[in-house]
Amino acid sequence: MPDRFEILHKDLAGRIGRLSTPHGIIETPVLMPVVNPHLQLLPAPKLARMGADMIITNSYIIHQDPELKVRAIEQGLHKLIGFQGPIMTDSGAFQLSVYGDIEVLPLQILDFQFAIQSDICVPLDIPTPPDVSRERAESELRLTEKRLEEAAALDRPSLLAGPIQGSTYPDLREKAARFLKEMSFDVYPVGGVVPLMESYRFRDLVNVVTAAKKGLGSGAPVHLFGAGHPMIFALASAMGCDLFDSAAYALYARQGRYLTVRGTWKPEEMKYLPCSCPVCQGHDLKELMESPQRIKLLAMHNLYVSLQEMKLVKQCIREGSLWDLLESRCRSHPRLLDGLKRLGKEGQWLEGLDASRKSTFFYLSSESSSRPEVVRYARRIERFALEGDVLICDDPGSGIAGFDHVLYFKPPFGPYPAELSETYPFNAEVPETADDAAMKQAARNMKLLIEANPRASFSFRLRSLPEGAGGR
Ligand code: GUN
Ligand code: ZN
Repeated sequence: MPDRFEILHKDLAGRIGRLSTPHGIIETPVLMPVVNPHLQLLPAPKLARMGADMIITNSYIIHQDPELKVRAIEQGLHKLIGFQGPIMTDSGAFQLSVYGDIEVLPLQILDFQFAIQSDICVPLDIPTPPDVSRERAESELRLTEKRLEEAAALDRPSLLAGPIQGSTYPDLREKAARFLKEMSFDVYPVGGVVPLMESYRFRDLVNVVTAAKKGLGSGAPVHLFGAGHPMIFALASAMGCDLFDSAAYALYARQGRYLTVRGTWKPEEMKYLPCSCPVCQGHDLKELMESPQRIKLLAMHNLYVSLQEMKLVKQCIREGSLWDLLESRCRSHPRLLDGLKRLGKEGQWLEGLDASRKSTFFYLSSESSSRPEVVRYARRIERFALEGDVLICDDPGSGIAGFDHVLYFKPPFGPYPAELSETYPFNAEVPETADDAAMKQAARNMKLLIEANPRASFSFRLRSLPEGAGGR
């Protein structure tokens, strides 16, 4: 079988990819609006017109409704829902996690998904919540893995997902991912993370997702189960998540909430509609609030901003500026910033995946000091072999004659060869006054360079000499 998932462009651990399904090829990252087969707040054809390329629905709900079940088997899922593009189906695992029990056997619900021609089928995994005992996480993971092994052994007419569980234990997540990868699933959802996202535990989310990604390797398509709020698309995409599902657009609308990429707002507390989607263009705040169609209109706005953010993420991956987007998105909530700082600690991992970048490096905040380019340079700086008289200076200026080597100094990189000043990433746009994080990193690099070149004699012409640089 040709590769079902092809990666076209990369930035950080994120990528633009192409996933082949029986109902067409989907470009990722992709947001799948969740469709409830019982009550379609926005009917599927409407979702398609709004720009949804793919949707997700729940096979368990269809299976448990005698009328829907018969129609799904007779007509197929796509006719039933009214959507021609790819449809992913979930298994009822979520109902299992909420109600503790469901009335169907694991292989039965998987066979049903095959029978109704779902494009991506999900076996009945066990969504272990965060913070449970290690024993529980391990025993539930064993059961999930056993079911997944059975599922993987079947002849499959469509794509098969292998959910990665393991609660908040990164080692279990990584191990689970490694185990499932051997069984060649087509898509790997990271499951059991909805409670983390609901409670804004983005640092733990990064822990869990990066662990799973390390176990999977970079080639596998990853779905982040239940990630529907646009404020986390940049962060999740930067970790290498490719598929997202949004029930949020409808759930929040029912609660009367207005989604933005910076968080969730209540219309009662707003004065303006800071958005140009068709809903916000066609209504002012008062009209929106008083409309009998209020929930539907909110759902439409919520979905428009979500789809828009996904496109922006793609554009940023394409031009190599995802980190910049990440920094601005993660400035909108302290917990998101915690998530970004945690991801910054994965500099080495990101550095190994990150394609060389095209767009200018912008130093936007202390988080920019953790960017892969900075980590990469810190690892390579000792490779410079210098002898004789070396000048380290802020900028070109005059009086560089008589030196064997001239290095410019720019935090967070520290010293770099003058010849590279127009070259990425040293052509970075940085603030006039470097912050502490940038200065510290620059000082560390300077120290490494000096120690690696004992035969060279260093002179400095710097506005401020970083502390601990150890000049002689
Ligand atoms: N929906 C949200 N979380 C999960 C999960 O862990 N497993 C499945 N199958 N569906 C989910
Ligand atoms: Zn809007």
